[in-house]
Amino acid sequence: MSEPKDNQAIQSLSTERRVFPPAAAFSSEAHVGSRAALDAICAEAEADPRAFWKKQAALLDWVRAPTEILDESRAPFFRWFTDGQLNLTTSCLDRHLATRGDKPALVWVGEPVAASGQAERRVLTYRELHAEVARTAGALRALGVGTGDRVAIYMPLVPELAVALLACARLGATHSVIFGGFAAEAIRDRVRDAGCKAILTADGGHRRGKQIALKDIVDRALDGGACPTVEKVLVLRRTGAAITMQPGRDVEWKDAVANAAPADAVAVDAEHPLYILYTSGTTGKPKGVVHSTGGYGVQVAYTAKLVFDLKDDDVYWCTADIGWVTGHSYVVYGPLLNGATVLMYEGAPDFPDKDRFWKIAAEEKVTIFYTAPTAIRAFMRWGDEHPQRHDLSRLRLLGSVGEPINPEAWMWYQRTIGGGRCPIVDTWWQTETGAIMISPLPGATATKPGSCTRPLPGIAADVVDRQGKPVAAGSGGFLVIRRPWPSMLRTIWGDDARYEKSYFSEIRDPETGRMLYFAGDGARRDEDGYFWVMGRVDDVINVSGHRLGTAEIESALVAHTDVAEAAVVGRPDELKGQGIVAFVTLKSSREKSDAVAAALREHVAREIGALARPDEIRFTDALPKTRSGKIMRRLLKELAASGKISGDTTTLEDMNVISSLASQMGEE
Ligand code: WT7
Repeated sequence: MSEPKDNQAIQSLSTERRVFPPAAAFSSEAHVGSRAALDAICAEAEADPRAFWKKQAALLDWVRAPTEILDESRAPFFRWFTDGQLNLTTSCLDRHLATRGDKPALVWVGEPVAASGQAERRVLTYRELHAEVARTAGALRALGVGTGDRVAIYMPLVPELAVALLACARLGATHSVIFGGFAAEAIRDRVRDAGCKAILTADGGHRRGKQIALKDIVDRALDGGACPTVEKVLVLRRTGAAITMQPGRDVEWKDAVANAAPADAVAVDAEHPLYILYTSGTTGKPKGVVHSTGGYGVQVAYTAKLVFDLKDDDVYWCTADIGWVTGHSYVVYGPLLNGATVLMYEGAPDFPDKDRFWKIAAEEKVTIFYTAPTAIRAFMRWGDEHPQRHDLSRLRLLGSVGEPINPEAWMWYQRTIGGGRCPIVDTWWQTETGAIMISPLPGATATKPGSCTRPLPGIAADVVDRQGKPVAAGSGGFLVIRRPWPSMLRTIWGDDARYEKSYFSEIRDPETGRMLYFAGDGARRDEDGYFWVMGRVDDVINVSGHRLGTAEIESALVAHTDVAEAAVVGRPDELKGQGIVAFVTLKSSREKSDAVAAALREHVAREIGALARPDEIRFTDALPKTRSGKIMRRLLKELAASGKISGDTTTLEDMNVISSLASQMGEE
């Protein structure tokens, strides 16, 4: 272990050494089939990044093809494909009509299961989806929505949600999707911030056997003229719940669309804002991340094709809600740009039973499955019998996104879901990056459990110290991106200064003097150039001058046979600066005891070093998570330090977790 230095972001203790080369049978059919082929593409992109991205721009249909690729004159406000014009929906829909008109674009499965055992299922072919989008765009236009207007979308995970995004894009209206689990206050803040002209919503949605009254929540958000820019609310009937329609403002979706003339795609500039998406924000006021049309479309199309190795006969399932960036990029735009068949499932993974995902995967013959580590750990906890009950032999590729995946969960995913046969793509990216940045290509990259491997072609990711100097192999540092990339965020809506301060104000390139993009992650690069994300640098725990990341200690805990999930945080310690507190959820059959706590402390010390031995183990039945599934370490830190919570909890999934943790801690 190296000595800590002042400028070192984070220190690594990891001992993971397993390597999984791609199987020959996969590689021989893949878009990129060998490491040599991938290296050649990377070399080409390094030699001339503009030429490389110009070439990838041909993945889209343009009304006017771009000749100017990158404008850096107002850095860090970068502009891509500046003289290009397009409408992204023609590349998602119109151009597939001739070749794939009758191919399913969306296959949707509803959550409720009837007494017969049947669930609702809807299929929209590319031709049907195209017609639906054009008519819905026509309806929006008739309601007064035009190019440049902002439209909020607050809907359950039904086909019309995907249609809503595309209908906005067809008109050049900027969509702002608000996750259907957020409350009235979150809607109000976001709608006001973006000045939305309309809201698309539904009477309600199904979630884990309950109904969520979406329209009522919208009514509350708009109450008392709180959102004066909103002129129309378009309401889809999904649950049939009783709702109040406000005359003049509220419009029935079905009627509006039935009466509408299909709208042609409006050509917009490449830099036109396709959407705003407010970040899940584990800290502070949410930021409206703004994405472009051309650059975003190019990189999302490129990465969806290569990372998921999309082929015409694939059935692709990304389990994310469209309310998150993963849903924007890899449920809607990325796969449709590639003419893929996308599976959408409305509800929870454990409704009516803990095998629901695997039942759907088997019945729908899913070939590519993309989910989050938090879900994978839940599946592990629920037990192998659920996936084992179903035929998952069609699966050929698995993906992970959202958090570092601990090697234990990676191995379980590989064996139990992938049957030891499917490559795993661990994809690192952010709401702000718009598209995947660091990831294996499944036919080309040997994978290591817990590593997102190497930057994709054209992506200049690096690990540097506080002075911007690359750190030695094996050392921890700040994960930065050295050059602009097409799908990067363009600004924070209405707040250019916050954009610059949030992403381009901390680390300077000592050679060029330019600020580097840095968005908070600590990482290490190993001797093979593989990246290991070690957690947010804000979460680093400083033990006797050693800056330890949370991910490695949590991985060590989860590798113990008794542990289902773990989150570690620092708390003030007079002697060491900070002590380590580990919040641990045990597997259901295991007992909480002092002996187990002692065994876990020793286990961490043995696995990764005495320095990382937790000072305290706190058993808990659940961890506080954001609605997108990320552990909220900020709240645990407060709890560990003071025994109570005073900070912002609006993004918390389940408030009960915190109150039970707090009362438990108060008892001692
Ligand atoms: C943060 C971004 C990207 C879409 C979903 C989350 C963490 C994401 C990985 C990964 C390690 C990861 C990072 C990142 N993260 N993917 N494969 N390995 N960490 O989007 O809410 O903007 O979160 O998620 O910390 O900065 P987001």
